[in-house]
Amino acid sequence: MCGIIGIVGHQAVSSRLISALKRLEYRGYDSAGIAVNNDSGKIERRRATGKLLQLSELVRKSPIEGQSGIGHTRWATHGKANQENAHPHMNETVAIVHNGIIENFKDLRQELTDQGVKFTSETDTEVIVHLFGTYFSKTNNPQQAMKETLNRLHGAFAIAIIIQDHEDLMLVARKGSPLVIGLGEGENYIGSDAIALSELSSRIIYLEEGDWAQITKDSVSVFDESHTPVERPITNAQTTGALVDKGNYNHFMLKEIHEQPTVIAQTIGQYADPLNGVIDLPEIDFDLNDISRITLIACGTSYYAAMVAKYWFEQIAKIAVDVDIASEFRYRKPVMAEKGLTILVSQSGETADTLAALRYAKKQGQKIGTIVNVDGSSMAREADIVLKTHAGPEIGVASTKAFTCQLSVLACLCVNMAHQKGFISAEGVANYIQKLEEIPALISYTLNHAEHMMNISRDIAKARDVLFLGRGTDYPIAMEGALKLKEISYIHAEGYAAGEMKHGPIALIDEDVPIIVLAPSGALFEKTVSNMQEVMARGGKVILISDKDGIKQQADGTFATITIPKVDPFISPIIYAVPMQLLAYYTAVAKGTDVDQPRNLAKSVTVE
Ligand code: M6R
Repeated sequence: MCGIIGIVGHQAVSSRLISALKRLEYRGYDSAGIAVNNDSGKIERRRATGKLLQLSELVRKSPIEGQSGIGHTRWATHGKANQENAHPHMNETVAIVHNGIIENFKDLRQELTDQGVKFTSETDTEVIVHLFGTYFSKTNNPQQAMKETLNRLHGAFAIAIIIQDHEDLMLVARKGSPLVIGLGEGENYIGSDAIALSELSSRIIYLEEGDWAQITKDSVSVFDESHTPVERPITNAQTTGALVDKGNYNHFMLKEIHEQPTVIAQTIGQYADPLNGVIDLPEIDFDLNDISRITLIACGTSYYAAMVAKYWFEQIAKIAVDVDIASEFRYRKPVMAEKGLTILVSQSGETADTLAALRYAKKQGQKIGTIVNVDGSSMAREADIVLKTHAGPEIGVASTKAFTCQLSVLACLCVNMAHQKGFISAEGVANYIQKLEEIPALISYTLNHAEHMMNISRDIAKARDVLFLGRGTDYPIAMEGALKLKEISYIHAEGYAAGEMKHGPIALIDEDVPIIVLAPSGALFEKTVSNMQEVMARGGKVILISDKDGIKQQADGTFATITIPKVDPFISPIIYAVPMQLLAYYTAVAKGTDVDQPRNLAKSVTVE
């Protein structure tokens, strides 16, 4: 979603604002702009639709210079993706960038229009410009105008404001949407996340819900929602420029797929201690053994990780698990179990629906756990227990390494709980750890056979629809495969429980629909291949993914096969996720789509 950057400093800012916006491209956007308090104290702005290249070109032809400014990448919510709606929005005195949604913007717009204000865009953001402008013209006091403006806004927002003739001042606020401050030498910065600031500062202040701040080149003053001055801790961010670079890969997504052996090993290493055969969790002030029921809540790919975990927790830790899509959860007003643990799964830790679900569950008296990838994210700050995935920054919009790291963390948690509840012995824990430790090598093996998947993908690229089938933990992996394919290749795809085919979807089968069947040999193999035979009997073009034993038995009549190493069923979903990623990636490349920033999608969905 929208990205924000700001610099209050002592050197020219235009090109640095645009470089920082480049680091925010991964969030997804359709227009971009910057506004700079120029050397004679006036605000000038440049805005362009499309990619940042357009904005850079515009600034090259028509330069603006000054030592403080704000920049923005916009993911359209209110109003089309055109230049008028692009940020920054401004009047004669102030310029503003905003991420989020101002829910009462219609009322505010009406009120301001009645006062004679002329709007030039369709955005909700523009009301902030005119509200702030009105209060500022009455008081000539930026802080007072900020307080009065914030008191009027409902909804989720992160905003940054610059004011004419106040080059050494920036006002920022966050409520519902993340915003961080980076500290420099004679210069300070603000951004939507630490990645935006990775080349500028590693000393980061994460603003809390409702905070606002006044920033000059030499000072940062933070105030809470009631406008009381507060101190917020300074954190050392580990997001360096090198980590957000594509290296030798054509796309971030491919780089991130290939990073999986390393980051999964890192993640498992944070929890599993193979020498002592134990899984260590961070300290918590409640006993996991007392937990009566688990609720897992997430969106998109993270939701599929939660679905896989349900199978694990129920089978291994013998605890009842509910899995919910975050956007549905709180609106159905669920009744939550006494002594329940709610776990939010999220790469970004900022997904608006998942965060709202966290707050709902907290109000219901649930213990709150979160599995997040981004340090200092809202979910990490609001949970009782944070289980971090150590995937490193994930820049490709399509989640890959974050997903397999989420699964790795959930697997560790499950084994720990199963042991605490007495369902597996100390020796059992050691066995599970051994299985987890095999994952990196098994993924490396699969990655080394990517070329075969690339060849198959050329055929998938010709399809209009693709089906993915699986049973057990491969059912959510089939859904994840379908999601990956549709989001980056724009081919319609659906993932089904293989046994559901006969209940409707089988009507879709013809020789033009590839059906990707995930069938590791094992307990569910026979059942899955029966469903596959039913599909082939109707002319379906099956691509079977299995291990050597499975392929040997069932290759006849398939269109293609993909051989994966034979793996223990416990870790199988993590391994089978990798061919899903590779097939989607190579299909998208064959179709020539924008793999890392697919159309209409945002990396971190911070609005409902
Ligand atoms: O940051 P989160 O894990 O909360 O994001 C959830 C979804 O938006 C995300 O997984 C999305 O589905 C990805 N684009 C999938 O590749």
